[in-house]
Amino acid sequence: MKLCAQKAVEEARERNLQLPEERNGRIVTLTNTDGKKYGGMTNKPVKEFKEFVEIASRADAKVLEIGAAYGTPYLMETFKKEHMGHYTACELVGDQLRILATRIEELDPSKLSNLTLIEGPFPHKEVIDHLQEGGYDAVLAS
Ligand SMILES: C[S@@+](CC[C@H](N)C(=O)[O-])C[C@H]1O[C@@H](n2cnc3c(N)ncnc32)[C@H](O)[C@@H]1O
Repeated sequence: MKLCAQKAVEEARERNLQLPEERNGRIVTLTNTDGKKYGGMTNKPVKEFKEFVEIASRADAKVLEIGAAYGTPYLMETFKKEHMGHYTACELVGDQLRILATRIEELDPSKLSNLTLIEGPFPHKEVIDHLQEGGYDAVLAS
């Protein structure tokens, strides 16, 4: 299900959703509706994904990240660039996307228009439709 980025920010603020503290370079993910936790988000970029960030930073690029958590280092690095393309962030746990949206809004509110948020288990209908319509310039799943 697609989330409106602005509404995601408002909901995160109303519900006081916060990024959990980092421990040993990772931030534990929230419990999903199935009662399971799906590991932790890394808070330090690894060099293997440098090329993804380079592609995502092109003004005409369309990129997809699967399991984007609270905004991985790759997503945050891309949104800190002066220029960037359109970034679709998919994530099973919707509240993580709401926190992600808040982080982008704090960085630069105008960049919310460069962000599509899709909540729920991959593959999502919105992503499949986009793949059939021309696809993404880069896809990251870590
Ligand atoms: C181990 S964490 C890794 C987070 C981040 N990609 C990283 O590299 O640090 C896995 C993330 O993928 C999400 N996830 C797990 N299964 C998923 C699915 N079927 N569709 C979308 N996201 C999923 C989890 O909720 C969690 O945020």
